[in-house]
Amino acid sequence: MIRLIDKNRSISITFAIMLGLQLSTDPRWVNIAEKSISEILIDHAFCEQKAATSGIALIVKFSDFEQVVKEVTPLVAEEWGHFRKVMKEMEKRDIKLGPARKDQYVVALNAFQNKGGSRNAYLVEKLLTFALIEARSCERFRLLSLNMEDEYMRNFYHEFMVSEAGHYRMFIELARKYMPPEYVKKRWSEYLEHESEILRSLELRGDRIH
Ligand SMILES: [Fe+2]
Ligand SMILES: [Fe+2]
Repeated sequence: MIRLIDKNRSISITFAIMLGLQLSTDPRWVNIAEKSISEILIDHAFCEQKAATSGIALIVKFSDFEQVVKEVTPLVAEEWGHFRKVMKEMEKRDIKLGPARKDQYVVALNAFQNKGGSRNAYLVEKLLTFALIEARSCERFRLLSLNMEDEYMRNFYHEFMVSEAGHYRMFIELARKYMPPEYVKKRWSEYLEHESEILRSLELRGDRIH
């Protein structure tokens, strides 16, 4: 069964803001993903682990940026909570985490970061990368939360979708605190453009969140 209506209006508004993503995921991705739900859960667990790990690394690298430390610290706790939640779901199904995987999507996005310039500019590169990963994850969780056959799993992914939408906004707002809004806007549109090219170049896999 396909449910076409979002559960509440605030989520719809969130998505209107988020439609900056230039390429929508092929809805058939859900069909292949739900056929390999074990692999999707494992990949999802690693995505949450990477989100927490990257958040900690950001705090350490920019420990003199007060607002970064303040905003990213609770985010790390939340991402680790997500990791635990996915692990719990895996334990119920007797799925093991296994070896870590390389996320080609994230590797390609990281390669786009401009490492020259001021520390503020470099911080903004990182914040926009994080924002983009959150936005894309959110878009994929949304598809799962609307279109999976299993109602329990639809609800499971709905919670992640809401949470990652909040993270996306937080990273964008944080970026605007460290570089002028016009700069952030321009760079963000370059990231969006590049992200759509990355997605076009990657195979649509049912065993990957990205
Ligand atoms: Fe998360
Ligand atoms: Fe997140």
